[in-house]
Amino acid sequence: MSYQYPDKADLITLSLVLMKNGNDELLRKAEDILLARAISMFRQNRYTTLLDLGCGNGRLTIELSKYFQWVTALEPDGERLAEARKKIADNGIENVSFVHSLFQDAGLPDDYFDVVICNQILQHVNTRAVEPIIREVHRVLKSRGVLVMTTSFAKGDEDCYWKVFAAEGKVQAVEITPQEFDGLASGDPGILPVHFFSSVSLEMHLQSFRPIEQSIHDNIYPHPLLDTILYIGEKRVKQSLGGATSFI
Ligand SMILES: C[S@@+](CC[C@H](N)C(=O)[O-])C[C@H]1O[C@@H](n2cnc3c(N)ncnc32)[C@H](O)[C@@H]1O
Repeated sequence: MSYQYPDKADLITLSLVLMKNGNDELLRKAEDILLARAISMFRQNRYTTLLDLGCGNGRLTIELSKYFQWVTALEPDGERLAEARKKIADNGIENVSFVHSLFQDAGLPDDYFDVVICNQILQHVNTRAVEPIIREVHRVLKSRGVLVMTTSFAKGDEDCYWKVFAAEGKVQAVEITPQEFDGLASGDPGILPVHFFSSVSLEMHLQSFRPIEQSIHDNIYPHPLLDTILYIGEKRVKQSLGGATSFI
């Protein structure tokens, strides 16, 4: 297991924000707005188990752990996971366990989680991993379990792909092909590949969920390359009729 997330200490993402506004507080504020919606939902429901899928350095895990009895924090980058472990321990939090794995390889139990949070993950994974990841989320969620997801959003009809990197002291962003994107998605230090999903493609990928909320946030993040969609959806139940599988 040797995956390394290419954006060490989130410096590329923060530089994008700083380039536009000179104030990285905005990133935290933007996140607060997105997460406030999910948290109000957690407060109103009796959820027990949460998966923080791709927990990174655990910055959200701390806050999220207040609303669940048990939290699983999964992260494939060993250094980031170590940071998350330390943060959780330093804050005296005892209801979090950790998994070091790519989510699609983790083999977590069926029907186990009330909620899966997938915050800013899908846009960085190989295009061939998107379907397996969503299938796994569906499998590990309890019946009527909830997926809370944010990802990068393309306003046009088609997905697009960018690489973001620092060169000559500046952050640069260049549009790339899906093939180049996939080449970078295994984790090339210093080059952050970003997949922007169109609404058509998200609808196709998320057929096994019933949307509860979808909101596009194109003005709270201060850079167009950070346009984001918040998606909250409930697991639909699979039904087989005459050999064909559909979701009800
Ligand atoms: C933009 S960071 C978001 C981290 C965290 N969710 C947050 O909001 O702070 C993306 C994270 O996804 C993780 N990641 C990438 N591919 C993954 C996969 N296949 N399964 C689980 N996590 C993955 C990366 O290692 C990285 O920590």
